Amino acid sequence: MSQRILVTGGAGFIGSHTCVALAAAGYVPVILDNLCNSDVRVLERLHQITGSTLQFIQGDVRDAALLARVFAETPFAAAIHFAGLKAVGDSVSDPLAYYDTNVGGSLMLASAMRDAGVNTLIFSSSATVYGEPEHSPIPEDAALRPASPYGRSKLMVEQALVDLYRSQPGWRIALLRYFNPVGAHESGLIGEHPHGKPNNLMPFVCQVAVGQRDKLQIHGGDYPTPDGTGVRDYVHVMDLAEGHVAALKHAEIQSSLVTLNLGTGQGASVLEVVRAFERASGRPLPFEIGPRRPGDVPAYWGDPSLAQATLGWRARRSLDQMCADSWRWQQRNPEGYR
Ligand code: NAD
Ligand code: UFG
Repeated sequence: MSQRILVTGGAGFIGSHTCVALAAAGYVPVILDNLCNSDVRVLERLHQITGSTLQFIQGDVRDAALLARVFAETPFAAAIHFAGLKAVGDSVSDPLAYYDTNVGGSLMLASAMRDAGVNTLIFSSSATVYGEPEHSPIPEDAALRPASPYGRSKLMVEQALVDLYRSQPGWRIALLRYFNPVGAHESGLIGEHPHGKPNNLMPFVCQVAVGQRDKLQIHGGDYPTPDGTGVRDYVHVMDLAEGHVAALKHAEIQSSLVTLNLGTGQGASVLEVVRAFERASGRPLPFEIGPRRPGDVPAYWGDPSLAQATLGWRARRSLDQMCADSWRWQQRNPEGYR
């Protein structure tokens, strides 16, 4: 019988793409999401892509009674925990909300899993746990010094799960540190649609390209990088999704706790992203170079070699493909799922 996987936050950007990858690999994803940053209409799109109706539980990952019921009703093989808040700026102005949802929610989920005897957990961590790195590519054993409450909430959960594993080594835990997820499923049916003005580069670029915003503000052109703009490790969301499937398969083989970078191992500058997007969309992308954004790191990218050695996974999709897929999603869904 196909294994059921609880996907918290499965209606969101990375979670929805991971549901597609799970279904393609023969798993049965069950989504638990409170829809605070997503749209229920994603379920129709997932149906169109996968050909099956995914079970959806609307609820909060901090609701212990709900989790107990969910685990009692369904024999889950594992949980993938995406549910959380992710806006760095909001975490500075409302840290308690971030610790409550990200740390509290994760502890609640791990407790419910322990009580139900489900011991395979894949956790969405972030490269933000490294803060400003000394050098790139960043290996997993680099210093951890997150610069925001959001980043610290991710690190706290990592530490709690390491302690849990040490106390009960039967657990199978993967802490996945994502770099900069972008792109969309190649069908153009699912993608990223942030509420309000986007903070992140790719959604902003998409909205400029489709004419919803006049121009891109490049945050700083005087960084010590080849073209002066910030450099990041952009990774296609479907590569990331497949990384979760690889982590699940690894957990099936042996009890372990692994901490892995999921990125391409290559940096791209803001101007390189702009040029790639222009190639993908076939139209010029107006931009202007403005001041640096407070708190931004000039450049970083990850070393994904441990993920390749451990999981046999590596990111395969190019920056051009990330832009082409983002563009297809944006063009077909200028208002997201609305
Ligand atoms: P997203 O906001 O699109 O998805 C998160 C989902 O979790 C949303 O559907 C939201 O409604 C849901 N959710 C939030 N709080 C919840 C709660 N208390 N109970 C139930 N559901 C809840 O974000 P995403 O980009 O898909 O990110 C998924 C995970 O990956 C997050 O944990 C995020 O911190 C992490 N991450 C994201 C990035 C990135 O740049 N997108 C980078 C590194 C790590
Ligand atoms: N940028 C612009 N203009 C914009 C938006 C971004 O020039 O309108 C630049 C930034 O200055 C940076 C690059 O594009 O150089 C990428 O910025 P993003 O905001 O897309 O991504 P960040 O690397 O700043 O942050 C992301 C996530 C965080 C996470 C962090 C760590 O948004 O949640 O990666 O991996 F913590």
